[in-house]
Amino acid sequence: MKKIVVFTGAGISAESGLSTFRDSDGLWEKYRVEDICTHEAWERNPQLLVDFYNARRRDTMNAQPNAAHIAIARLQQSIPSTRIITQNVDDLHERAGAKNVVHLHGEITKLRSSINETATVQLKGWEQHYGDRHPDGSLLRPYIVFFGEGVPYFTEACEIASTADIMIVVGTSLNVYPAASLLQYAPRQAEIYLIDPGQPAFTPSSKIHHIQKKATEGVPQLVESILSNAAERKF
Ligand code: OAD
Repeated sequence: MKKIVVFTGAGISAESGLSTFRDSDGLWEKYRVEDICTHEAWERNPQLLVDFYNARRRDTMNAQPNAAHIAIARLQQSIPSTRIITQNVDDLHERAGAKNVVHLHGEITKLRSSINETATVQLKGWEQHYGDRHPDGSLLRPYIVFFGEGVPYFTEACEIASTADIMIVVGTSLNVYPAASLLQYAPRQAEIYLIDPGQPAFTPSSKIHHIQKKATEGVPQLVESILSNAAERKF
């Protein structure tokens, strides 16, 4: 059986109204990464981080999955071995109906213990109150993988990527490592489709097909074409 692996970044949620990070109007144009997304920033000014991620959480809760999230969920429903790996902390893949999504950089709807990276709790509503504690006694912090921290599910993601016959990469600038290196874990013969209206940082090669379209256009088209000859190709 052939296997499809989907790997997404902020661009897939752009048309749902959520900001990307490195586009001209992106979040890292408005904020300094060093002030928001590092352990040092958390130690220095935790309230600033709590406020920043509360705003992101509120935006996420107000956003809806778009045609690209829905097409990917449909692909997985039709070919259940399809796996989805995302750098996004939003839950739009799940709200579109996708299952078993691997979140490399955390999940905005959850908080985590300050002393155990995988001890997470679901937050009700959008607002974290600084000072609340995890059952293990430590301060709760946003469940976001900060720059400089380990990526807890990266090994699992590499194992999944290494099984791909087709890898569909959507809306990522491929600037952040180790996540961006997932493409290199795909087997040599795998076909890689990169759907992004911009110019992500990849080395052109015969196996990478760049579909220079927005996610809501490019993803449903590619999914349709895969599903239309899935039986022939033994998915
Ligand atoms: P970036 O902001 O770096 O890249 C967004 C990509 O989406 C760019 O390549 C855009 O061209 C593309 N894009 C914009 N609009 C699009 C659309 N409508 N359809 C498809 N693509 C579109 O976001 P990521 O690569 O996801 O980490 O960033 C990786 C990580 O950097 C994030 O997970 C986050 C950030 O710092 C953490 O917060 C830990």
